[in-house]
Amino acid sequence: MTEKDFSQYGIGTRGVRAGQRRTQEGEQSEPIFTTSSFVFDSAEQAAARFSGEEAGNIYSRFTNPTVNTFERRLAALEGGERCVATASGMAAITAACHALLKSGDHILSSNGIFGSTTVLFNKYLSRFGIEHRSIPLCDLDRWKSSIQPNTRMLFIETPSNPLAEVVDIKALAEIAHRKGCLLVVDNTVCTAALQRPLELGADLVVVSATKYLDGQGRCVGGAVVGSGELIEEVYSYLRTAGPSMSPFNAWVFMKGLETLRVRMQAHSASALMLAQWMENHAAVKKVFYTGLKSHPQHTLATHQQDGFSGLLAFELKGGRDEAWRFINGTTLVSITANLGDAKTTITHPATTTHGRLSDEEREAAGIHQGLVRVAVGLEDVEDLQADLQRGFDALKQGQ
Ligand SMILES: Cc1ncc(COP(=O)(O)O)c(C=O)c1O
Repeated sequence: MTEKDFSQYGIGTRGVRAGQRRTQEGEQSEPIFTTSSFVFDSAEQAAARFSGEEAGNIYSRFTNPTVNTFERRLAALEGGERCVATASGMAAITAACHALLKSGDHILSSNGIFGSTTVLFNKYLSRFGIEHRSIPLCDLDRWKSSIQPNTRMLFIETPSNPLAEVVDIKALAEIAHRKGCLLVVDNTVCTAALQRPLELGADLVVVSATKYLDGQGRCVGGAVVGSGELIEEVYSYLRTAGPSMSPFNAWVFMKGLETLRVRMQAHSASALMLAQWMENHAAVKKVFYTGLKSHPQHTLATHQQDGFSGLLAFELKGGRDEAWRFINGTTLVSITANLGDAKTTITHPATTTHGRLSDEEREAAGIHQGLVRVAVGLEDVEDLQADLQRGFDALKQGQ
C-alpha cells in the first residue's frame, strides 16, 4: 500500500486523489472492503492488535480501510490532522458532544442551527447535566459577553441553514480560545470545497455527508475533523458507542469528494442567478443568499468563502398557505427536506426541518411561516427558473 502527501496540492486535486492507498492489485478506483471483521495470522497477532501493540484492522466498528480512505481524503480537504466518519451528520454532532463534554458543562450556540441539533442540545444533553443557550450568530459582542465560566463549546453553522447568516470564524475562534472554549463549526452548507473553518482557527468541523459530500441523495453519513488529539477522543467514543459509517456509504462519499469542487461551483452559480432573479420579484419579501450584494454579510462571505453554495431561502409575502401553494405549484423540483443533491429540492422549513421546535425557538431562529427553502441542484438553471415561476403563478391563482 502506498499513499502520497497531498497537502501542497489544491482543493480539486485533494478531493480527487488524497487518502488513496493503492493495494497490490494496482486498482485505479478505490475498492470497497465489505467485511465486518479482519482475520489474524495467529492468536499472538490477534492479541497484539487488540492490545494496540500492532497497528491494523480488527473490526469495522473500529476501523475499515474504505472508511479510512474517505476519512483521510476529507481530512486533507478540510485541512485537519484527522477525520472520523460517522453514521450520520447528527451522529457526528452527538459524538463530538459526548466525547468532549461532561455534566456541568455549557454549550453556547448560534440561534439558527439545524433543528435536530437544537433538540439534541435542549432535550437530550440537558438530561446529562449539559446546559445550552443560543444567541444570534453574527453578534460578536454577544458571544463575548455570553460565555460563562462553565462554557466549554461554542457551536455554530455558518452560513446558517436556511437563513444564510454568516459570522467571522477567525474572530469567533479568538473569542473562544481566550476563554478556553472549543469552537465547533457545522460546515454542511459550504463544505470544504468552499470554506475551511479549521484554517481560520476553529477546533472541529462537523459535517452531514448526506448533503453535498454525497451530492446525489443516496446515503446518510457524517464526519468530524480536527486535530489528532481531539479526534482521538471522538474516535474512542465512537468505537465504543457504535454509530460508525458503513464501508459502502464511505465509498459513495469518497467518490462524491472527487466531484465536490466542480459541483459546488455549479450549485453556487445557479443559486446566485436564481437569487438575483427572485430578489426583484413582487411576491418575495426577502431573499436569504450570501452571494447577493444586499446580504448584510456579503463582504465577509466573499472573504471567508470560496463560493456561496446552493442553499437559497426566500420569504414570500404571506404565510404558510402561500408557501405551501408556491411549493405545490412547482412540477420539476422535488418536495423533500434534504439538500445538497443534484436534483433540486424544495421545502417549507417551519413545518419540516424546523417543525419540532417550539414556536418560541422557531421565532428566535427567524423561521417564519412564509419561508421557502430551495437547495439548487444541477439541472439547467433556465428549467429551474421556469419551475419556480410556476410556483409564483400558483400564488396568483390562489388570490
Ligand atoms: C446543517 C446540518 N447539519 C446537520 C444535519 C444532520 O445531518 P444528518 O441528516 O446526516 O444526520 C443536517 C441535516 O439536514 C443539516 O442540514
